[in-house]
Amino acid sequence: MNLNQLSQNRYTAKSYDPARKISLADMDQLCQFLRYCPSSVNAQGWHFMVIGTEEAKKQILPAFAGANQPKVQNASHTVIFCAKTSLDETYLQKVLDKEEADGRFANEQQRQENDATRRYFIGLNNTSPEALLNWQSKQLYIALSGLLFSAQALGIDSTPIEGFDAGKLDEILQLKQKGLTSVVVATLGYHAADDFNAKLPKSRLDTEDLFTFL
Ligand SMILES: Cc1cc2nc3c(=O)[nH]c(=O)nc-3n(C[C@H](O)[C@H](O)[C@H](O)COP(=O)(O)O)c2cc1C
Repeated sequence: MNLNQLSQNRYTAKSYDPARKISLADMDQLCQFLRYCPSSVNAQGWHFMVIGTEEAKKQILPAFAGANQPKVQNASHTVIFCAKTSLDETYLQKVLDKEEADGRFANEQQRQENDATRRYFIGLNNTSPEALLNWQSKQLYIALSGLLFSAQALGIDSTPIEGFDAGKLDEILQLKQKGLTSVVVATLGYHAADDFNAKLPKSRLDTEDLFTFL
Protein backbone atom coordinates (compact mmCIF):
# COMPACT_ATOMS: atom_id res chain seq x y z
CA MET A 1 0.00 0.00 0.00
CA ASN A 2 1.25 3.48 -0.85
CA LEU A 3 0.53 5.75 2.13
CA ASN A 4 1.32 8.95 0.23
CA GLN A 5 -1.37 8.09 -2.27
CA LEU A 6 -3.88 7.24 0.45
CA SER A 7 -3.28 10.45 2.41
CA GLN A 8 -3.34 12.68 -0.65
CA ASN A 9 -6.32 11.06 -2.33
CA ARG A 10 -8.44 11.48 0.79
CA TYR A 11 -10.00 14.89 0.74
CA THR A 12 -13.14 16.53 2.08
CA ALA A 13 -15.95 15.91 -0.38
CA LYS A 14 -18.12 19.02 -0.73
CA SER A 15 -20.76 17.58 -3.01
CA TYR A 16 -21.98 14.02 -3.51
CA ASP A 17 -23.52 12.08 -6.38
CA PRO A 18 -26.95 11.09 -4.98
CA ALA A 19 -27.22 8.22 -7.47
CA ARG A 20 -24.21 6.33 -6.11
CA LYS A 21 -24.65 4.19 -3.01
CA ILE A 22 -22.03 2.36 -0.98
CA SER A 23 -22.41 -1.41 -1.25
CA LEU A 24 -23.52 -3.40 1.78
CA ALA A 25 -20.20 -5.27 1.73
CA ASP A 26 -18.20 -2.01 1.84
CA MET A 27 -20.43 -0.54 4.58
CA ASP A 28 -19.92 -3.70 6.57
CA GLN A 29 -16.14 -3.39 6.22
CA LEU A 30 -16.28 0.24 7.36
CA CYS A 31 -18.45 -0.61 10.36
CA GLN A 32 -16.05 -3.39 11.34
CA PHE A 33 -13.14 -0.97 10.94
CA LEU A 34 -14.87 1.41 13.37
CA ARG A 35 -15.57 -1.47 15.73
CA TYR A 36 -11.87 -2.29 15.89
CA CYS A 37 -10.68 1.31 16.38
CA PRO A 38 -8.63 1.78 19.55
CA SER A 39 -9.95 3.49 22.69
CA SER A 40 -8.20 4.23 25.97
CA VAL A 41 -8.27 1.18 28.28
CA ASN A 42 -10.49 -0.43 25.62
CA ALA A 43 -13.41 1.42 27.21
CA GLN A 44 -15.26 1.71 23.87
CA GLY A 45 -17.52 4.34 25.39
CA TRP A 46 -19.06 5.06 22.05
CA HIS A 47 -21.86 4.21 19.67
CA PHE A 48 -22.15 4.81 15.92
CA MET A 49 -25.49 5.75 14.40
CA VAL A 50 -25.40 4.84 10.71
CA ILE A 51 -27.94 6.79 8.69
CA GLY A 52 -28.69 5.21 5.32
CA THR A 53 -32.38 5.59 4.56
CA GLU A 54 -33.91 8.62 2.86
CA GLU A 55 -36.37 8.93 5.75
CA ALA A 56 -33.66 9.08 8.40
CA LYS A 57 -31.61 11.55 6.35
CA LYS A 58 -34.61 13.86 6.10
CA GLN A 59 -35.21 13.52 9.82
CA ILE A 60 -31.70 14.61 10.86
CA LEU A 61 -31.32 17.38 8.27
CA PRO A 62 -32.53 20.31 10.48
CA ALA A 63 -29.62 19.69 12.86
CA PHE A 64 -27.06 20.51 10.15
CA ALA A 65 -25.64 23.86 9.09
CA GLY A 66 -27.01 25.00 5.72
CA ALA A 67 -23.80 24.26 3.82
CA ASN A 68 -23.67 20.72 5.21
CA GLN A 69 -27.29 19.80 4.50
CA PRO A 70 -26.77 18.84 0.83
CA LYS A 71 -23.91 16.56 1.92
CA VAL A 72 -26.20 14.65 4.28
CA GLN A 73 -28.97 14.61 1.65
CA ASN A 74 -26.83 13.34 -1.22
CA ALA A 75 -24.19 11.21 0.49
CA SER A 76 -24.85 7.50 0.60
CA HIS A 77 -24.49 7.31 4.39
CA THR A 78 -23.98 9.57 7.39
CA VAL A 79 -22.24 8.26 10.50
CA ILE A 80 -22.93 10.00 13.80
CA PHE A 81 -20.18 9.43 16.34
CA CYS A 82 -21.81 9.33 19.78
CA ALA A 83 -20.30 9.21 23.26
CA LYS A 84 -21.88 7.27 26.08
CA THR A 85 -22.99 9.71 28.77
CA SER A 86 -22.06 7.29 31.53
CA LEU A 87 -19.74 4.33 31.94
CA ASP A 88 -21.56 2.67 34.80
CA GLU A 89 -20.99 -0.58 36.69
CA THR A 90 -23.13 -2.65 34.33
CA TYR A 91 -21.20 -1.32 31.35
CA LEU A 92 -17.77 -1.92 32.91
CA GLN A 93 -18.80 -5.48 33.67
CA LYS A 94 -20.01 -5.96 30.10
CA VAL A 95 -16.65 -4.86 28.65
CA LEU A 96 -14.75 -7.10 31.08
CA ASP A 97 -16.96 -10.10 30.34
CA LYS A 98 -16.50 -9.60 26.60
CA GLU A 99 -12.72 -9.41 26.97
CA GLU A 100 -12.83 -12.64 28.94
CA ALA A 101 -15.05 -14.33 26.36
CA ASP A 102 -12.65 -13.16 23.62
CA GLY A 103 -9.83 -14.95 25.41
CA ARG A 104 -7.85 -11.97 26.72
CA PHE A 105 -7.04 -13.38 30.17
CA ALA A 106 -4.84 -16.34 31.02
CA ASN A 107 -6.02 -16.34 34.64
CA GLU A 108 -8.17 -14.57 37.24
CA GLN A 109 -5.35 -12.29 38.35
CA GLN A 110 -4.96 -10.88 34.83
CA ARG A 111 -8.69 -10.35 34.65
CA GLN A 112 -8.73 -8.43 37.91
CA GLU A 113 -5.69 -6.33 37.03
CA ASN A 114 -7.20 -5.41 33.70
CA ASP A 115 -10.47 -4.39 35.34
CA ALA A 116 -8.65 -2.34 37.99
CA THR A 117 -6.57 -0.48 35.37
CA ARG A 118 -9.65 0.39 33.35
CA ARG A 119 -11.48 1.62 36.43
CA TYR A 120 -8.48 3.71 37.46
CA PHE A 121 -8.19 5.54 34.13
CA ILE A 122 -11.92 5.98 33.75
CA GLY A 123 -11.96 7.38 37.30
CA LEU A 124 -9.31 9.96 36.37
CA ASN A 125 -11.45 11.15 33.47
CA ASN A 126 -14.92 10.76 34.98
CA THR A 127 -14.72 13.63 37.47
CA SER A 128 -17.74 15.38 35.90
CA PRO A 129 -20.08 14.78 32.94
CA GLU A 130 -18.11 17.43 31.00
CA ALA A 131 -14.75 15.79 31.76
CA LEU A 132 -16.09 12.38 30.71
CA LEU A 133 -17.46 13.81 27.46
CA ASN A 134 -14.14 15.53 26.77
CA TRP A 135 -12.26 12.26 27.24
CA GLN A 136 -14.73 10.25 25.19
CA SER A 137 -14.65 12.85 22.43
CA LYS A 138 -10.90 12.38 22.04
CA GLN A 139 -11.49 8.68 21.47
CA LEU A 140 -14.21 9.43 18.94
CA TYR A 141 -11.97 11.71 16.88
CA ILE A 142 -9.51 8.82 16.58
CA ALA A 143 -12.35 6.70 15.21
CA LEU A 144 -13.36 9.54 12.88
CA SER A 145 -9.87 9.64 11.40
CA GLY A 146 -9.90 5.86 11.03
CA LEU A 147 -13.15 6.02 9.10
CA LEU A 148 -11.98 8.78 6.73
CA PHE A 149 -8.85 6.89 5.73
CA SER A 150 -10.38 3.42 5.63
CA ALA A 151 -13.16 4.77 3.39
CA GLN A 152 -10.54 6.24 1.06
CA ALA A 153 -8.78 2.87 0.96
CA LEU A 154 -12.03 1.48 -0.50
CA GLY A 155 -12.34 4.38 -2.96
CA ILE A 156 -15.13 5.99 -0.94
CA ASP A 157 -15.24 9.76 -0.41
CA SER A 158 -16.02 11.34 2.93
CA THR A 159 -16.63 14.59 4.79
CA PRO A 160 -15.83 15.09 8.48
CA ILE A 161 -18.52 17.39 9.89
CA GLU A 162 -18.51 19.54 13.00
CA GLY A 163 -20.98 21.97 11.45
CA PHE A 164 -24.09 20.68 13.16
CA ASP A 165 -26.10 21.39 16.30
CA ALA A 166 -25.35 18.49 18.67
CA GLY A 167 -28.25 19.42 21.00
CA LYS A 168 -30.71 19.37 18.11
CA LEU A 169 -29.34 16.11 16.70
CA ASP A 170 -29.53 14.49 20.14
CA GLU A 171 -33.14 15.63 20.42
CA ILE A 172 -34.15 14.36 16.96
CA LEU A 173 -32.62 10.92 17.53
CA GLN A 174 -33.55 10.87 21.23
CA LEU A 175 -29.94 10.14 22.06
CA LYS A 176 -30.07 11.32 25.69
CA GLN A 177 -32.73 8.69 26.40
CA LYS A 178 -30.33 6.11 24.97
CA GLY A 179 -27.49 7.32 27.22
CA LEU A 180 -25.70 8.90 24.26
CA THR A 181 -24.70 12.30 22.93
CA SER A 182 -23.47 13.20 19.45
CA VAL A 183 -19.90 14.45 19.12
CA VAL A 184 -18.93 14.53 15.45
CA VAL A 185 -20.31 13.35 12.11
CA ALA A 186 -18.98 11.99 8.81
CA THR A 187 -20.77 11.63 5.52
CA LEU A 188 -19.70 8.87 3.12
CA GLY A 189 -20.35 8.33 -0.57
CA TYR A 190 -19.05 9.23 -4.00
CA HIS A 191 -18.34 12.82 -5.03
CA ALA A 192 -20.41 14.56 -7.68
CA ALA A 193 -18.88 15.69 -10.96
CA ASP A 194 -19.23 19.31 -9.81
CA ASP A 195 -17.35 18.85 -6.52
CA PHE A 196 -14.93 21.80 -6.66
CA ASN A 197 -12.79 20.37 -3.88
CA ALA A 198 -12.01 17.21 -5.87
CA LYS A 199 -10.12 19.35 -8.38
CA LEU A 200 -8.22 21.60 -5.98
CA PRO A 201 -4.65 20.78 -4.98
CA LYS A 202 -4.11 19.92 -1.33
CA SER A 203 -2.59 22.58 0.90
CA ARG A 204 -0.59 21.83 4.02
CA LEU A 205 2.15 23.67 5.88
CA ASP A 206 5.65 22.53 4.99
CA THR A 207 7.22 19.51 6.69
CA GLU A 208 9.74 21.72 8.54
CA ASP A 209 6.89 23.78 10.00
CA LEU A 210 5.12 20.70 11.31
CA PHE A 211 7.87 18.38 12.51
CA THR A 212 10.87 18.47 14.80
CA PHE A 213 13.22 15.52 14.43
CA LEU A 214 15.51 15.03 17.42
C1 LIG B 1 -13.11 17.68 12.90
C2 LIG B 1 -13.37 18.26 11.55
C3 LIG B 1 -14.55 18.93 11.30
C4 LIG B 1 -14.85 19.43 10.02
N1 LIG B 1 -16.07 20.00 9.77
C5 LIG B 1 -16.41 20.30 8.48
C6 LIG B 1 -17.74 20.71 8.16
O1 LIG B 1 -18.62 20.84 9.01
N2 LIG B 1 -18.03 20.94 6.85
C7 LIG B 1 -17.08 20.80 5.85
O2 LIG B 1 -17.41 21.01 4.67
N3 LIG B 1 -15.81 20.44 6.14
C8 LIG B 1 -15.45 20.17 7.43
N4 LIG B 1 -14.16 19.76 7.73
C9 LIG B 1 -13.18 19.62 6.62
C10 LIG B 1 -11.93 20.50 6.75
O3 LIG B 1 -12.22 21.82 6.38
C11 LIG B 1 -10.83 19.87 5.89
O4 LIG B 1 -10.50 18.61 6.43
C12 LIG B 1 -9.57 20.72 5.79
O5 LIG B 1 -9.82 21.94 5.15
C13 LIG B 1 -8.46 19.97 5.02
O6 LIG B 1 -8.91 19.63 3.72
P1 LIG B 1 -8.98 18.12 3.21
O7 LIG B 1 -9.78 17.32 4.20
O8 LIG B 1 -9.68 18.22 1.88
O9 LIG B 1 -7.59 17.59 3.09
C14 LIG B 1 -13.87 19.30 8.98
C15 LIG B 1 -12.67 18.64 9.26
C16 LIG B 1 -12.42 18.09 10.51
C17 LIG B 1 -11.15 17.31 10.73
